[in-house]
Amino acid sequence: MKSVPLTQELFDYIEKISVPDDPLCKELLAETLRLEIPMIQISTDQARFLYLLTKMINAKHALEIGTLAGYSGIHIARGLQPGGMLTTVDINPAHSSAASGFFAKAGLEDKVDVITSPALDHMQKLVADGKKFDLIFIDADKTGYHNYYNEALKLSHPGTVILFDNMLKAGNVIDMSMSDPDLDAVREMNELLSKDNRIECLLMTIGDGMTICLVR
Ligand SMILES: C[S@@+](CC[C@H](N)C(=O)[O-])C[C@H]1O[C@@H](n2cnc3c(N)ncnc32)[C@H](O)[C@@H]1O
Repeated sequence: MKSVPLTQELFDYIEKISVPDDPLCKELLAETLRLEIPMIQISTDQARFLYLLTKMINAKHALEIGTLAGYSGIHIARGLQPGGMLTTVDINPAHSSAASGFFAKAGLEDKVDVITSPALDHMQKLVADGKKFDLIFIDADKTGYHNYYNEALKLSHPGTVILFDNMLKAGNVIDMSMSDPDLDAVREMNELLSKDNRIECLLMTIGDGMTICLVR
């Protein structure tokens, strides 16, 4: 095996040397906990990765499926080109409301459009409106991933980057004695993405497993 197994100490080291201190995001995480919003946001290194990736590809239009309290969204929005816009969609109004507050606190209110809606409905509306995005981050209900992927492709141009979170499901993807709708949906997506020649992709061992796809 070429990868280094990740211990807590090694993760702390990576975080120390490559994730800048971010008091606003620390406050966001503390507030997420206080509001009893589930602590299911991406990890700090994934957030840093999303910020850098958004910048590296010069993204101007980004779409996020699954806002929660805005942790990942803040990182994407901060990486956008001047005049850029993140559209972020969540079904839960309490999550959208908390996120809107934090986008404003981060000075990003003009860069983020927070939509409260079932993701598929809003994606279909964006397709009908002829919208295209440079980066699409999918991080909501796993059983919806297949549908979100189909819509994401319609919202893409050659070069669009589509990302999916939780593609390792705590490592359970390879334990075939386990089965539940979310896990099975992730396994199905992993298989589908690996065979889909409309994209090129890599399942990365960051956070709970993040698949990065480049649309051809
Ligand atoms: C894992 S959290 C998103 C975390 C966020 N991306 C972050 O890292 O800060 C998943 C979110 O998806 C939302 N969600 C679940 N089902 C949804 C659906 N059908 N449509 C839109 N959002 C949905 C949940 O309300 C929850 O806020």
